[in-house]
Amino acid sequence: MIYRKLGRSGIEASVVGFGAWAIGGWMWGGSDEKQAIKAIHAAVDAGLTLIDTAPMYGFGASEEIVGKAIRDCRDKVVLATKCGLIWHKEQGDFFFMSDEKERTANGDRKIYRCGAADTIRYEVEQSLKRLKTDYIDLYQTHWQDPTTPIANTMQTLLELKKEGKIRAIGCCNADPAQLADYCDAGQLDVDQELYSMLDRKQDRQNLPFVIENDMAFLAYSPLGQGLLTGKIGPDRVFNTGDLRNTKPRFSVENRQRVQELLALFHKIADRLGLSLSQLAIGWTIAQPGCSHALVGARTVEQVLENVGGGAAHLPAEDIREINEALATVGKDIE
Ligand SMILES: NC(=O)c1ccc[n+]([C@@H]2O[C@H](COP(=O)([O-])OP(=O)(O)OC[C@H]3O[C@@H](n4cnc5c(N)ncnc54)[C@H](OP(=O)(O)O)[C@@H]3O)[C@@H](O)[C@H]2O)c1
Repeated sequence: MIYRKLGRSGIEASVVGFGAWAIGGWMWGGSDEKQAIKAIHAAVDAGLTLIDTAPMYGFGASEEIVGKAIRDCRDKVVLATKCGLIWHKEQGDFFFMSDEKERTANGDRKIYRCGAADTIRYEVEQSLKRLKTDYIDLYQTHWQDPTTPIANTMQTLLELKKEGKIRAIGCCNADPAQLADYCDAGQLDVDQELYSMLDRKQDRQNLPFVIENDMAFLAYSPLGQGLLTGKIGPDRVFNTGDLRNTKPRFSVENRQRVQELLALFHKIADRLGLSLSQLAIGWTIAQPGCSHALVGARTVEQVLENVGGGAAHLPAEDIREINEALATVGKDIE
């Protein structure tokens, strides 16, 4: 496993992070807590230190599971969670109704994007309780709230850092102008964005900013939510409520197009002694400015395979071959 800096925070974390969205269950058609805890233990034992969760992942369920899993190994983990998406009150910018994504037994909730001081202070205390810890290593705004100036949000985060509740500050789902607003107000160490072989917008958008400002870049959904593993063929059926049931990316036609691309990648992966998942992870962390890949997993087997991606070294000519395939065979893939 390779370890890289989280910006200028002084914290180092494994290049492969454990993405804890799916284990929260909601939008992923449920989850198995025991299996998830075993997966986290296997990850930590294999040298993975970065764990990324959020209150929104199962309305606290993911944080609860992570908290239980790391109780005996808190000091080995770089714990990342988020704020700025709330459902406990109506404040900020209305984002969506929870039932639109997946119904839960607790009824329909109104989700707001909110970066106000009082709600962030409420959220951090809730997260600390669920995670069973007294500090968060990396605290990130989950989505950007157009009703609160970023300078005000950053002010609150800087106060939390001074108080020792958080150690580093990051943001997600931001554009370069928003990143600049954060940096104007204080030290922003991390940007977390959608990035994979199939999602390359950030090559031109945020990655140049991140490089220029000595920040870490955490790629989320680097396996295209499973599609790049080669294990989601046209016949795979997802559980009720799994977000992949309604995404055009997972239409049968698109899955067939992906199979053609993956047939080319198979040859490269075989040459390098890697699985397709490891090739996708290795490619992701080899892209300029992309320091870490947050990989979602639910089982020990998935984790152990993905950890191997953190040690993958892709020679420049293989990266060129992959990029050529993405630009040709991959160009019509959703
Ligand atoms: N900041 C944000 O707004 C944001 C948004 C999205 C994600 N994220 C973060 O990024 C993390 C990763 O993103 P993601 O979960 O959306 O997508 P991902 O990492 O691209 O894909 C995760 C899914 O791929 C499948 N998978 C993983 N490893 C596998 C393996 N070795 N073999 C076969 N299948 C495998 C699993 O699905 P099955 O088990 O169902 O097959 C898993 O749930 C999240 O957990 C979260 O921490 C952040």
